[in-house]
Amino acid sequence: MSQYDIAVIAGDGIGPEVTREALKVLAAAGDVFGFHVRGTEYPFGTGHWLATKELFPDAAFEEVRGMDAVFLGAIGDPRAPVGLVEYGVIMRMRLGLDLFVNLRPVKLYDARLCPLKDKRPEDIDMVIVRENTEDAYTAKPEFVDRGGPDEVASQPMRYTRRGTERIIRYAFDLARSRNKRKKLLLIDKSNAVPAQDLWSRVFAEVAKEYPDVKTEHAYIDAACMWMVKNPEWFDVAVTTNLFGDIITDLGAMIQGGMGIAASGNIHPGSVSLFEPIHGSAPKYAGKNVACPVAAIMAASMMCDYLGEKQAAVAIEKAVIDLLSTKKLKGVGTGDHPTTEVGDLVTAEVRKVPARV
Ligand code: IPM
Ligand code: MG
Repeated sequence: MSQYDIAVIAGDGIGPEVTREALKVLAAAGDVFGFHVRGTEYPFGTGHWLATKELFPDAAFEEVRGMDAVFLGAIGDPRAPVGLVEYGVIMRMRLGLDLFVNLRPVKLYDARLCPLKDKRPEDIDMVIVRENTEDAYTAKPEFVDRGGPDEVASQPMRYTRRGTERIIRYAFDLARSRNKRKKLLLIDKSNAVPAQDLWSRVFAEVAKEYPDVKTEHAYIDAACMWMVKNPEWFDVAVTTNLFGDIITDLGAMIQGGMGIAASGNIHPGSVSLFEPIHGSAPKYAGKNVACPVAAIMAASMMCDYLGEKQAAVAIEKAVIDLLSTKKLKGVGTGDHPTTEVGDLVTAEVRKVPARV
């Protein structure tokens, strides 16, 4: 029986509640498909920082580096300075584990989840490949004449050829293998930010190695417009860290909102992190009202990454079936307690005939 070592960082706000449900579903999938997940819990997040002033100690970080994957609930809480814990925990792992791919599928599971008129599941099925280690996110902020009338603040959008090339290559590989459309869209803003010409050049160079993949280009503003107007046009898209952050929130909304959207922070072949896209929603914490479906979908992505493809599909299918039979009235609509959603998905996964 395969065994996987998973670091579990449930984090802040609703993080622990949704994580609990995702782990429940994962354990059921393990029973059905013959694998075992050994979770090691780490307390990092705002509560831990407030109590200890510790963000992510090096010794724990080294342990996590040796795991098969990391499951993260949510990080962020107004009791800590803006960005401190996010940088100390999420960004620490994205950078320290070199998780250069932020993979964000945007898939509509049921027409009634979509706020766009007349869109069906077959219209919305795309993957946004967001670069995850560069851009303004990792450039040094600078304040000149801080607080003064002539203050200048800057934080450059910084891209390396290596960083740009590896994410573009990953996206081409994905576009080639994902389906028959074999289409890859580059999203940038090179008309206003000429530094992004690097993206255009590298994209064109790498494209020569993938003659079977059809390439397209859109500026980020237009891409946002198209995503709402004609989501069916999208298949795989690759973009910068900052634009990817923004457009995937838009993507999350057209697939049913923050209650369902999940992501993988991946370094192919080594420890990778899976998380719901939503935040910690502190005001809903501890009330058993948060929707755990996004965390459950993150668990499905984690199974896929670990090579447990059947489990990944079974979890996804369980959610789709619960939605289509209306046993699950909605996602993030407050119709079900957190634990009830976890129980429903778990029961559905357990219905799958066991692998012999
Ligand atoms: C996300 C989040 C993070 C980001 C924040 C919490 C730093 O919005 O994962 O999309 O901007 O990357
Ligand atoms: Mg974001």
